[in-house]
Amino acid sequence: MFIALEGGEGAGKSTLAAALAQRLRSHDRNVILTREPGGTGLGDAVSKLVRHRQGLTPQAELLLFEAARAQHVHDVIRPALERGDIVLCDRFMASTIAYQGYGRVLSLRDIAEANRIAVEGVEPDLTLLLDLTPDTGLRRDTTDPAGDRLRGEGTAFHERVRAGYLAQAAADPDRWLVIDATQPKEAVLNAAWSRIAALV
Ligand code: TMP
Repeated sequence: MFIALEGGEGAGKSTLAAALAQRLRSHDRNVILTREPGGTGLGDAVSKLVRHRQGLTPQAELLLFEAARAQHVHDVIRPALERGDIVLCDRFMASTIAYQGYGRVLSLRDIAEANRIAVEGVEPDLTLLLDLTPDTGLRRDTTDPAGDRLRGEGTAFHERVRAGYLAQAAADPDRWLVIDATQPKEAVLNAAWSRIAALV
């Protein structure tokens, strides 16, 4: 089973991912907790580039995320799924649709094609969207916006990202769950678990 966690800055994805991994392990499931960009050496290098490199074009940014994804699927996600492990991934292809598609306003059709090349058929069974307003999220996120190109984009950009996530969730309710990320941590975990328990 492959579960992706998505949401804007400060939504609490990594907190939820860690709590879900712990709960699944307490049910004797092998869990791989991984993230994008990251999860491989190439992913870590891409993470630094997209955060800090000045003058990156939107297209270059898109292709860097997709290059990292292709390597991550090949090296980490597919092998784990083939072993029968549960994969929890903090961000995946929906991030690219939300950030580069809705945020940067690149062609959604081109992004779908780039995602298709990168994932080679490996797609999440369930995507959990931690939803909150950008104002709340950016207030909760304590990283320095000046040190991160995407985080430092204005509120309008992050509003488009949120709309992009909600549109994806609305289009595929069987494979998406929208969770109100302003709830207490336990309530967020319980909402996610109520859907995942049925799948495991
Ligand atoms: P994070 O550590 O907050 O998850 O940071 C990753 C940043 O990269 C975040 O601003 C979202 C962005 N991102 C994209 O724009 N497109 C993508 O495909 C991915 C995976 C992340």
